[in-house]
Amino acid sequence: MIATESLSKRFPRVTALDRLSVDIAPGVTGLVGANGAGKSTLIKILLGLSPASEGRASVLGLDVAKDGSAIRESVGYMPEHDCLPPDVSATEFVVHMARMSGLPPSAARERTADTLRHVGLYEERYRPMGGYSTGMKQRVKLAQALVHDPRLVLLDEPTNGLDPVGRDEMLGLIRRVHTDFGISVLVTSHLLGELERTCDHVVVIDGGKLLRSSSTSDFTQATASLAVEVTDTADHPDGTTALRTALERAGLTVQPAGRGADGAPGSDHVLLVDVVGEETYDTVRDTIAGLGLGLVRMEQRRHRIAEIFRSDDEAEATDAVDAVDGTRAPGAPAAASAHGKGGAVDAA
Ligand SMILES: Nc1ncnc2c1ncn2[C@@H]1O[C@H](COP(=O)(O)OP(=O)(O)OP(=O)(O)O)[C@@H](O)[C@H]1O
Ligand SMILES: [Mg+2]
Repeated sequence: MIATESLSKRFPRVTALDRLSVDIAPGVTGLVGANGAGKSTLIKILLGLSPASEGRASVLGLDVAKDGSAIRESVGYMPEHDCLPPDVSATEFVVHMARMSGLPPSAARERTADTLRHVGLYEERYRPMGGYSTGMKQRVKLAQALVHDPRLVLLDEPTNGLDPVGRDEMLGLIRRVHTDFGISVLVTSHLLGELERTCDHVVVIDGGKLLRSSSTSDFTQATASLAVEVTDTADHPDGTTALRTALERAGLTVQPAGRGADGAPGSDHVLLVDVVGEETYDTVRDTIAGLGLGLVRMEQRRHRIAEIFRSDDEAEATDAVDAVDGTRAPGAPAAASAHGKGGAVDAA
């Protein structure tokens, strides 16, 4: 769908893209990066709207430097910023965009009704867009990207400004753009966790450079950990420590959740186990059963994008803090959790 080769974009004071080479296959692909990583710059180059300083890129086999208008005929684009005229209705606006893409009037009206229904805008579609909520505006922006039945859509931060329910709905719509219509999707976000649920493939960029490009399942395998909490028993008055020792003996990497915990009651008893494969779940279950402990919870935790971007120095510093917490905890359970909490506050 998309291929870039040593693609760079230099502004007078910033290098927005730095020799980026990446191939994107059909399906739903997430483009993840912090603010200023170069996501929007890449999208504008792919649309042929902004020339690259160096390197090459092609979209659907077309050269972005020469075939910009042919690319825009077959590609839909949802820009990140608010771009809707306030005094026209969604229907008028999307019909207009369909006509601009070359659809005849009757087809434009039909496709507009279909796409607005797909994104979940009904009676509101006849009202001026100036009175729309952010969620409704994002839906209209998605509809105008789809109305001319493109082969590929480039969606720039479609969940921006949405509440958690709105985010989930938008991510569901995006997934269905591919499953129901067979349209490929490139969607940007600064939240990895959000894209993990929607995308087949994830590309991470930072400072205009490619950090990682891999299938979502590889990604979550590498970044998943399992939060485990157990009860104490007469045999094991400190069940958490007993479990930790046993899991480490079984070859697993275990850390107290400590600082990273959700702050819920008892979160200082939570252990984070690195997931190395399907068998990790069995090992944890069998170990708990073997010790005769009660299982309070066992849940998947995902690392967040911030942790991928964390520099090695910071990572070492954090590991050191975790290690300190870890050596305290097994010592004297009652006092240790109080210390652990103190540490967390200091760190915060
Ligand atoms: N027209 C421009 N002139 C000068 N600098 C620019 C221009 N457009 C982008 N930049 C710079 O290029 C870098 C990448 O910007 P870009 O908008 O691509 O980031 P982004 O990943 O989309 O960020 P965000 O998540 O905030 O939308 C930033 O440092 C930005 O300031
Ligand atoms: Mg952007």
